[in-house]
Amino acid sequence: MRIAAHLAYENNKMLSSQVDDSGKRKSLHGHWSSRMAFILAVTGSAVGLGNIWRFPYVVGENGGGAFVLVYLACVVVIGMPVMMSEILMGRRGRRNPIATMALLGSEEGKSTRWSLVGAMGVFAGVLILSYYAVVGGWTLAYVLKSGSGAFANAGAEIVTAIRDEFLGSWITVAFYHTVFMGLTIFVVARGVERGLEQAVRFMVPALLLLMFVLLGYAIMSGYFGQGLSFLFSPDWSKLTWDTVLTAMGQAFFTLSIGMGAVMAYGAYLPEETSIPGSAAAVALSDTSIALLAGLVIFPIVFANGMDPAAGPGLVFVTLPLAFGQIPGGVFFATIFFVLLTFAAWTSAISLMEPAVAWIMERFSKSRQQAAIMVGTLIWACGFGTVLSFNVLADFKFLRGTIYDNLDHLTLNIMLPLGGLLIVFFAGWVMCRNSTADELGGAGRIYKVWRFLARIVAPVGIVFVFLKAVGLLPDFA
Ligand code: TRP
Repeated sequence: MRIAAHLAYENNKMLSSQVDDSGKRKSLHGHWSSRMAFILAVTGSAVGLGNIWRFPYVVGENGGGAFVLVYLACVVVIGMPVMMSEILMGRRGRRNPIATMALLGSEEGKSTRWSLVGAMGVFAGVLILSYYAVVGGWTLAYVLKSGSGAFANAGAEIVTAIRDEFLGSWITVAFYHTVFMGLTIFVVARGVERGLEQAVRFMVPALLLLMFVLLGYAIMSGYFGQGLSFLFSPDWSKLTWDTVLTAMGQAFFTLSIGMGAVMAYGAYLPEETSIPGSAAAVALSDTSIALLAGLVIFPIVFANGMDPAAGPGLVFVTLPLAFGQIPGGVFFATIFFVLLTFAAWTSAISLMEPAVAWIMERFSKSRQQAAIMVGTLIWACGFGTVLSFNVLADFKFLRGTIYDNLDHLTLNIMLPLGGLLIVFFAGWVMCRNSTADELGGAGRIYKVWRFLARIVAPVGIVFVFLKAVGLLPDFA
């Protein structure tokens, strides 16, 4: 995968020697131009629909405050160590995730079968993108709807009617899904090195700025206090183990961890960059944007007497409604959905890239061929989600619609399982010297990481899994 804006090393040098004088492996594709470039790229992957679309609606469905606190705890004690593990493994292996896991496995004198963890990640990325691209299509459609002025001065009924009509028409949804998937294939096929860094550098601050404009509106709506207390005052009676699992899944999803995307990016990280510092910067900006989205959306929900548990369509009603009421709303709304589409796009790229890199290497395909093959497969799978909100809305099994099942399988099962295996690998399979070497020596931060990676994160994930499926009795 080549995302670096500037290659720090000339190509021929890298190809002729993959190991430098100090005995360290170098990336096959060059390195990030700076620590900032790496942080921006991972932030571009992390900040996306998960923060602005999914976070508010799962918080709403799961009762608010208690869910948010569990989610924050998961980010800190599980998400952070997993993210650091992914980066350090990526930097040590300097390959795509499947090859990295195999290589590190053999280097540590253990099995090369650890590559299966990478394979599961590739598969998870494909499944996640199949519905992520559909929602990316929704945001794209909303750029045009906002621009046409459809939401100007519109009340809750009108905005809801527009959304229902849109989601109800599978052909329209399929059309935008196709466009969004096409855009993603286009970037991945060209090689994503140029543009991404610039895009993220502009997008994240701009997105933040507009969120603050909306925050101003939310504060003036008169329902800010209610929104605040919904988000932060915990009602523990609303919490079940299934809810805890959902909060943990959301933490994995929003940080882009558990499937090797961050591991792949870590492969291009220069030796001297601090891994804990980078991981903390990403987690902090990602979490702030999600909380900000919550602070904007819930006051609007309460001010308009809407249902916080309205599900995946929540932000496509609340945000147009807010924009419809503020001066310059048509303009701001259009820009906002453009930015959200960008944010979704930079995330979609990172979901697809591991599969593309693997097809290229495994079957000796060109980047273009691989991107088109993988992209077409994902696009086709996307129809399961396209139809979940209209034609097949009543076709329910296990967890609900096809979309509900995909969401549960990937976020609540595959990502935490992938994260468990990754953190277990870094904490128990890799020897102390290897990990301390990557994390800047055996200081205090290292000790904290190692404790979280060896004990807290694995035990936490397994415990929540077992509880959620009811395998542990109540006293445990
Ligand atoms: N984190 C992104 C979001 O919140 C989605 C995403 C991108 C992702 N790459 C990922 C999720 C890898 C899991 C794994 O929208």
